[in-house]
Amino acid sequence: MITMELSRLLPMITMMIILVVKETEGRFVVEKNSISVLSPESLRSKQDAAIGNFGLPDYGGSMVGTVVYPQKPASSFGCSRFDGDKPFKSNSSRPTILVLDRGECYFALKAWHAQLAGAAALIVVDTVDEPLITMDSPEASTTADDFIEKLTIPSAFVHLSFGQSIKDALQKGDQEVLLKLDWSESVPHPDQRVEYELWTNSNDECGARCDEQMNFIKNFKGHAQILERGGYTMFTPHYITWYCPKPFVFSEQCKSQCINHGRYCAPDPEQDFGEGYSGKQVVLENLRQLCVHRVANETNRSWVWWDYVTDFHIRCSMKKQRYSIQCAEEVIKSLGLPSDKIQKCMGDPEADVENEVLKMEQDAQVGRGSRGDVTILPTLVVNNVQYRGKLERTAVLRAICSGFKETTDPPICLSGDLETNECLENNGGCWVDSEHGINACKDTFRGRVCECPSVNGVQYQGDGYTFCKAVGPGRCTVDNGGCWSDIRDGKRFSACSVNNVTGCSCPQGFRGDGHTCNDINECQERLACQCDGCTCKNTYGGYDCKCKGDKLYIADQDACIERKASKYAWFISLVVLGVVASAGLAGYIFYRYRLRVCIHGFGDHGNYVSIHASRQPEPKSSGCSRIRTSASNLNRMMHKESDK
Ligand SMILES: *[C@@H]1O[C@H](CO)[C@@H](O)[C@H](O)[C@H]1NC(C)=O
Ligand SMILES: *[C@@H]1O[C@H](CO)[C@@H](O)[C@H](O)[C@H]1NC(C)=O
Ligand SMILES: *[C@@H]1O[C@H](CO)[C@@H](O)[C@H](O)[C@H]1NC(C)=O
Ligand SMILES: *[C@@H]1O[C@H](CO)[C@@H](O)[C@H](O)[C@H]1NC(C)=O
Repeated sequence: MITMELSRLLPMITMMIILVVKETEGRFVVEKNSISVLSPESLRSKQDAAIGNFGLPDYGGSMVGTVVYPQKPASSFGCSRFDGDKPFKSNSSRPTILVLDRGECYFALKAWHAQLAGAAALIVVDTVDEPLITMDSPEASTTADDFIEKLTIPSAFVHLSFGQSIKDALQKGDQEVLLKLDWSESVPHPDQRVEYELWTNSNDECGARCDEQMNFIKNFKGHAQILERGGYTMFTPHYITWYCPKPFVFSEQCKSQCINHGRYCAPDPEQDFGEGYSGKQVVLENLRQLCVHRVANETNRSWVWWDYVTDFHIRCSMKKQRYSIQCAEEVIKSLGLPSDKIQKCMGDPEADVENEVLKMEQDAQVGRGSRGDVTILPTLVVNNVQYRGKLERTAVLRAICSGFKETTDPPICLSGDLETNECLENNGGCWVDSEHGINACKDTFRGRVCECPSVNGVQYQGDGYTFCKAVGPGRCTVDNGGCWSDIRDGKRFSACSVNNVTGCSCPQGFRGDGHTCNDINECQERLACQCDGCTCKNTYGGYDCKCKGDKLYIADQDACIERKASKYAWFISLVVLGVVASAGLAGYIFYRYRLRVCIHGFGDHGNYVSIHASRQPEPKSSGCSRIRTSASNLNRMMHKESDK
C-alpha cells in the first residue's frame, strides 16, 4: 500500500503513543472509479481504477478522452518534463488522457508533468500483477509541496493487464483508443441526506498537510453551513486520537502528550518535549472542538463548529504563539456558545476515567462496512466512503452533491453559488459597537470575515474580533477617540488630537496619560508668569498673568513690555508678529482642511491651532465655527499690534 501513514509520519518509538488502528492490521479501502473502453470495439469493457489521492477527481461526473502513451520508452514514466509546448494538448474537442507506467518517481510528479503537457487526466499502469493501490501524494517534502497544490487533473491507477491491453491497442495504431473515466458511482447515493465527516486535528504546525486541511475548512465553510442549515447534510467532525500503552502511562512523554492518564494523546507538535506546545494541549483542543460541535448540535446549530474552528485558527494559531485555553475561550465567547456546557462536556482531563467523547472517537477510527480505517490525515468520508483527491472546495462539493439521490439535490448543487449573509446572526462573532452602529463583520461568498471597517472616512484598526479602534484623522469624532475631555465654563478641553493618528495626549495646560488629565497649576509650579512683579493666577487649562503697572505681558517671552514702543519693544513686537503670522498660515491650512471635514459632516472637538501668545483654550464650538473664531482672533491681534 503506497499511502502516507500517520504512524510513519510520526515515528512511534520516539512518540511512544499509539494509534488505535495499527498499520499492519488496519483495513485500508481503495476507493474506485470506473473506466470504460468505448473504442476500439474489441476492447469494450468496464474496469475498476483506484482514484489518486491528489488532483481533482470529478466526483459525480465523467470524462471521455483520447488515450496517448509517450512514444519514447524513456518518457513512459513521466518522471521528467515532456519536451515541447503542451505536447499532449488535445487537437480536437476531446481531451487527452495520458497513460504512464508506474515507477521511478512519485505518482503526483507524473500527474504534474502530465498536467504541464496539456493532458486532461492521467492513468498510471501498475508494473506488477496485484490488487489496486491508492496513489498518494509524497510525504511532506519542500519541493513537492508547491506542485501538489497546483494539481488539478484527476488521476487513476489501473491493473497491469488492463493497462497492457490499452498500450497494445495503441501500438497497433489503426484506431483511436477512447476511454470514459467515470466517478458517478464513486459515492453511494441512497437518500436525500448526505452524511459526511472530516477527520482532522487542531495541530496547525505540520507543514503542507495542515495547511491544506485548514485552507479547506476555511474555504468550504460557506458551502458546509448552507448544506447543514438546509438539513441536506449531517456533518460530523472527528479527531484522530492516540493512546499511551499501560506501562508508559507515568513516563514524561505520556504525561506531556496525553490526558486522562494516558488514555487520549496527540503527538507533540514540534516532536520535541522540551519546546513549544505539548501534545496534551493539542488533544485538549481537539476535545474542545468536539464539544463545541456537540453542544452546538444540541440546539440544532451544529454548523457553528465551522465558525469556531476557522476563528480559532485565525486568532489562536501556533504560528502566532497564541494557541491557548484563554484564546479558545475568547472565541467561544465571541460566538455566543455556552462555555459552561462545553466545559462540562470536556470533563476533567486529569482524572483517571474514560472520556465518553474521545472514547467514541477512538472507536470510530476503526473502519466499518464500506469505510476503511482512518489512517490518513485529513480524511473526508462521504456516505461512508473515503474521499480521494485534493481537499478543495468545489471538488468536495461535487463529491457531496454526488451523494444525493437523484432529484433530491439541494439548490447549491445545481447552482454552485448561493449567497447567505453570515453577519446577520450574532454579528458573525465579530467586534461590534452597537452604540455607534459600527461592526467588523463582512459577508463574503465563502462565509464571513471579521475586519475592522472604515466608516465615513474614519479608519478602524484591531483584530476585528475583540477590538477595533478608530485611527487617523476623524477618529476624534467617535467617542472623542477614547480620550479624555472636559467642559468647563463653556470651554471644551480634549486629549484627542487630529494631528496624531492614534493615542491621546493631554492638551496644553494639562498633565496626565490622555485618559485622565489634570490641570497644571503653572503659578505654583513656577512654569510661567515669573517676570518681575507679575501676578499669576491659575485658571483651568491655563493661567492669567498681570504685569505691574500698564505693561503688556508677552507670554512667549514671559516678560512685560512697555506699552509705549521703544526700539527694543518694536523689535519684540515684530518677532511676535512674525510668529503670529506663521501661526495664521498654519491656521489657514487647517481652515481648509477643517472646511472639508465640515462639509463631510464632522464636528471636531480636538484641540489644535493654538495662537502663539495665548494659552487660553478655544471656546467650545464645532470645528467649523472655531476656525472662524481663531481667524478673527488673529485679525484682532494683528490689528491691535499695528495700532501701537
Ligand atoms: C496535435 O497536433 C500536433 C501538430 O499537428 C502534433 O504534433 C501533436 O502530437 C498533436 N497532439 C495530439 C495529442 O495528438
Ligand atoms: C446531532 O443532533 C442530531 C439530532 O438533532 C443527532 O441525530 C446527531 O447524532 C447529533 N450529532 C452528534 C455528533 O452528536
Ligand atoms: C432540534 O431538532 C430536532 C429534530 O429536528 C428536534 O426534535 C429538537 O426539538 C430540536 N431542538 C431544538 C433545541 O430546537
Ligand atoms: C502626539 O503623540 C505624542 C506621543 O503620544 C505626543 O508627545 C504629542 O504631543 C502628540 N501630538 C499632539 C499634536 O498632540
